[in-house]
Parts: sequence; C-alpha cells; structure tokens
Amino acid sequence: MNSIIDRLTSVEKQSSQYEQRLQCLKNSLNATDLGKQCKMAKTLPEEAYLVSLLQATKELFAAAIKSSCNNLSNPPISVAQSTQKTVDYQCNSAMQIIKKVKDEGLTLVDGSKVKPHDIAVNIVRHIPENDIFGTVAVAGPGFINVNIDANYICRKVRDMLVYGVHVKPHESRKRVIVDFSSPNIAKEMHVGHLRSTIIGDCIARIFEYLGHEVLRINHVGDWGTQFGMLLAHLAEKFPDFVTKPPPISDLQAFYKEAKVRFDSDEDFKKRAYECVVKLQAKEPEMFKAWQEICDISRKEFKKVYDILGIEDLQEKGESYYNELMVELVEDLTNKKLLCDDEGRKLLYPSEGRGNHLLIVKSDGGFTYDTSDLACLKYRIEKEKADKIIYVTDKGQALHFYGLFDCAVDLKYYDPKSIDVVHVGFGVDKKKFKTRSGDTVRLLDLLDEGMQRSLKKLEEKGRDKVLTEDELKAAQHALAIGCIKYADLSHDLTLDYQFSFDRMLDDRGNTAVYLLYSLTRIRSIIRNANVSKPAEELAKEIPALKLQHPRELRLAKYVLKFPEIIYQIANDLRPHTLCSYLFDLSVVFSEFYEQCYCIEKVNTKEGEKTKVNIDRILLCEATANVMTTALNILGIKTLSKM
Ligand code: ARG
Repeated sequence: MNSIIDRLTSVEKQSSQYEQRLQCLKNSLNATDLGKQCKMAKTLPEEAYLVSLLQATKELFAAAIKSSCNNLSNPPISVAQSTQKTVDYQCNSAMQIIKKVKDEGLTLVDGSKVKPHDIAVNIVRHIPENDIFGTVAVAGPGFINVNIDANYICRKVRDMLVYGVHVKPHESRKRVIVDFSSPNIAKEMHVGHLRSTIIGDCIARIFEYLGHEVLRINHVGDWGTQFGMLLAHLAEKFPDFVTKPPPISDLQAFYKEAKVRFDSDEDFKKRAYECVVKLQAKEPEMFKAWQEICDISRKEFKKVYDILGIEDLQEKGESYYNELMVELVEDLTNKKLLCDDEGRKLLYPSEGRGNHLLIVKSDGGFTYDTSDLACLKYRIEKEKADKIIYVTDKGQALHFYGLFDCAVDLKYYDPKSIDVVHVGFGVDKKKFKTRSGDTVRLLDLLDEGMQRSLKKLEEKGRDKVLTEDELKAAQHALAIGCIKYADLSHDLTLDYQFSFDRMLDDRGNTAVYLLYSLTRIRSIIRNANVSKPAEELAKEIPALKLQHPRELRLAKYVLKFPEIIYQIANDLRPHTLCSYLFDLSVVFSEFYEQCYCIEKVNTKEGEKTKVNIDRILLCEATANVMTTALNILGIKTLSKM
C-alpha cells in the first residue's frame, strides 16, 4: 500500500512539474502572441487607429484655453457630449473661468470687465489647427458648440474599413489581474459565480483589447476546515480511493452526507479535524484525497466554462497560498500587529472603510481573509501586477475594503501607483429556484437556455431556412449570448432577477435583438452583391461619400466606439457598451429607413437594381463595430440566423 502511495506521489509530483512547465510555456507563448500583437499594432500607421472624439475635443480645448488664458493657473476645462441633437460636443469652460477669476480676485485682460462670451470667443480663436473640428460656434452666454467635420468622419470610416476596428491602445502597457468566477470546491457553483464569470471575462477582454497583458485568475475556494469532513467521509466510504478514482458524480450530495455525519457523530467530527491537520501537513494520502475531490469539482466547472467559451482562466485557488499564509502569519505575529480576541487573531485596518480581517481562528486554522491577504501580497510582489480587479457580488465589498486597507497599511502597495479594485455586482433578488425550492444547478440552467433558444428560433421559422449546422450554431450563440447579455446590459451594481423570458425577448435591449440586427445588416450587404470585399473598395477611395444627415449621424455613431471602450476601462461598467450597441442599431434602422442601399430603378431596358456603394460600406463599418463590441462582451456573432 505504502509503496503504491509513494509511487503515486512521485508520479503526481512529476505531473505537477510538467503542468507547471506547460503553464510556463503557455505563458511565454501568450506573451509572444501579445508581443506580436503589440508589434503589429506598432506597424500600423497612425491613421489606422480610432481615437476618442470626446478626448480629442478635450485636448484641443485644453490647448486653446491654456494659450488664451495664459495668466490663469489650472484653468477649468469642461467639455462634454452635447445634449442638442444638432451639436456634437460642447465646451462650458468660459463660464467657469469667469467664476475662477472672480473667486481668486484675478484680473484677466488689463483689469477691464470681461463677459464669458468674450472669453469663449477668445478661446475659439486659440483652437489649434486640426482636421477634426468642422463648425465651431459660440452660443448663449458663452457655450462653445462643436460639430465634427464631415470630411474627417468620411475619411475615418474609410480607414476603419481598410485597417479594421482598432482603438488606440493605452499609452503604457500594464499587467492586469482579473480575479473572477472563483467558485468553491464541493459546493454549488451558482448564478452569482455565473455573473462573476461573465462580467470578469468581459473586463479582461476590454483590457486585452486596449493592449494590456491580462491574467485571468480563478481563486477557487479549495482550502479550509470544511475539507476535513469531506476527507474523512471519502476515506471511509471509498477506502481504495488512492488506486481507484472515487465514483462520486454528485459531489454536493456527498458534501451533504458528510455534513450530516459531522453534525451528529462526535467521533466522526474528531476524525474530520484530524484530517485537516493531516491535509495541512500535506500527508500524501490526505493530499491525494483532497486532489480527488478538487478534480471532481474542476471537471464540473470546466463544463460550464466550455459552454460559456471562457478561455485562459488560470486556477490559483486559496490552497496555492498555503505556505505564504504560514509566512504571513509569522511575520504579522513578529511585528505584533495581530490583536487577540478570545483566541482569535485579528488584523485591523487603520481606516474604517471595511471589515477587520480574521487571520487565525481559535482552532489555529487560516481563513478566507488570510488567503486573500497572502494572495494580494503575492500578486504584487511575484506577479508584478499594476492593476488588480476582483469581481464578486457586492456583499463582499467590506471584506475587500478591509483587505485593501490592511495591505496598504502593511505597505504591500502604494495605491498611487498600483490600482486594486473590487467590482461588486448586485445579487439575484429571488435566488433562481426550482418549483421545489432548490436552487437550480448551473448546468441545468444553461441547458434550459439552449432549449429555449431553439424554441425561439423555431417560432421564427428559422429551422426551415437554416441548415442543421447553422441552426445548431445559432441555437448556441443565441442561448449563451442572451445569458451573457442579460448580465452585462444592466448596471452591475443593481440587483437583478434572472429571467429567460426577458432575455429571449426580441424587442428591446437584448442579445436576440442585436444578433438579429447584425445578421440583417450582413444580409443587406450580401444582397448588394458587390464584386469586391469592402476592404478593397475602401482602399480605392480616400474617403466615403456621405451627405444625408442620417448617413452622417450613423457614421458619427460608429466612430463613438472608442469613447465607450475607454470609459469602461475607466469605470469598469460594461453596460455602457450594451447601451451603445442598442443605440447604434436604432440609429442604423433610422438610416436604413431613409437611405436606400439598394434601389430598383426603371430604365429603358427594364427594371434594374442600383447599389449605393458608399451606403453599403457604411453598413459594413456598422456591422464590423457591432461584431467587435459583441466579441468584447464575449458574445459570438453569426452571419446567418
Ligand atoms: N470563492 C469566493 C466565493 O465564492 C469568491 C472568491 C473571490 N476572490 C477572492 N480573491 N476572494 O464567494
């Protein structure tokens, strides 16, 4: 028996070494892939990038204000999207400058009285030469209204068709860790974890898109005293688990059985505690049993990730920091930073924003807090993170505030140079339940989504038009797209209610509606039967020819995309991208209503179709931006549905 265990342990050690090497290779491959992308990005000419027009407008006004008010320190720069339909951006700085002048008792121009209107006129005079601004006008008491130049718009849409949808990457490339999903071994992966997975993956995609190096980390709950009862139960129920994988298909039922024994049988309880001690000492047999249990859960989790298309999610659970926790506790104890509370050891943050941390329990065990503190230190010191984002439900906000404050107190990081944030999302108001009151298994839920989406497609008669493979692809894209979109499309801080009926509605801001809009645009393009791909056609012209107000409005809306991406990288609220997509498809419909892309005309030779190429190119640009945006949301798109 012992020799078998020895051999197994050594095989295991080897396989874990191989796994680590494989991970290293994968990482370096990833790094070179990203490196390649960056190099590629560098070889793209400047005109290949889409810039934020809001940002560009701000920069132009900042320059104008600085040079027109050169005796003012830090002049206020206030530029925003205009609320008027006929104006793109508005600068309101003139009024604020007057206020500042008055407040600070300054004189502006030789002590004479100036009105905001004069200041505005003066600012306009100092706007640097540029090709972005079209008309600039001073209105009312001193508002400056700007419209983006139509030539610029027509050229940028053309560039986008030639080079693809590239948003200008952030200036410095950062290493960003996104901690998301993070279910608990042997426990249920619930809709909260589903939400964390969907939101976290989307945030990771945003940062990747902006050129950063992203690590997706699955901080699974795989350590702690609850494993004692699982291990004791496993060892007793399947004594030969070391040689034969235990036939447990339902780990949760197994967990429940163990819990019943733990609560009712004192001897079992004792054995369970002994198991924890053995596990923490990494005694081979216990360690093996623990791995078996983790493996069973891991397989279940993987099914969910595969269905959702979650890739590159690296598992580094609580157990990963076991040795570091020991060191950490030693260090904190030596520095006399822990407070004793009836045998428990607590760490208090100097600021009162969050909870204190429970570092050592009275039985000597470590906790969720201990592993998170050790882990945060590791992410900064070893993984060299510049930004760390934790995605969990907002119920954990106080835990994270306490954690961050303690880490700053301990000088693990300086919040001025490293950004550590918690993205706390709202919880399911009614905990998604079956009729009998049990919470629904996540896999069953995804399965139901698949069935419902097929029904939806059948209702629309799509099963009669699509091939079997196309129908399958549509069913999958629709089901998963809808589930993801429902989570992403409303402000994540609000509570929500999981509802298939709502997410599969084809009116309103849903994935069904958007996927249909996109396939409709693609089919308009197909029907035009243009001889060359859009990219080739765009290369042959310096700019699109767009004149109709609805053409220009759509083109501007398409070019608004970078603004939205930067905003989300800043506030980590992906619903803005969903609202943008929805508005974009509405603006597209308004364009399509009035601007014929394909026209039937009567000629002497009979009826002919006339294709408006520039409009077809605008359709293509719209579809490309929609596809990119949906991919960033983690939603697969289809050319037919
Ligand atoms: N396992 C935890 C839960 O299910 C989430 C972990 C989040 N990440 C972290 N580093 N604490 O609630």
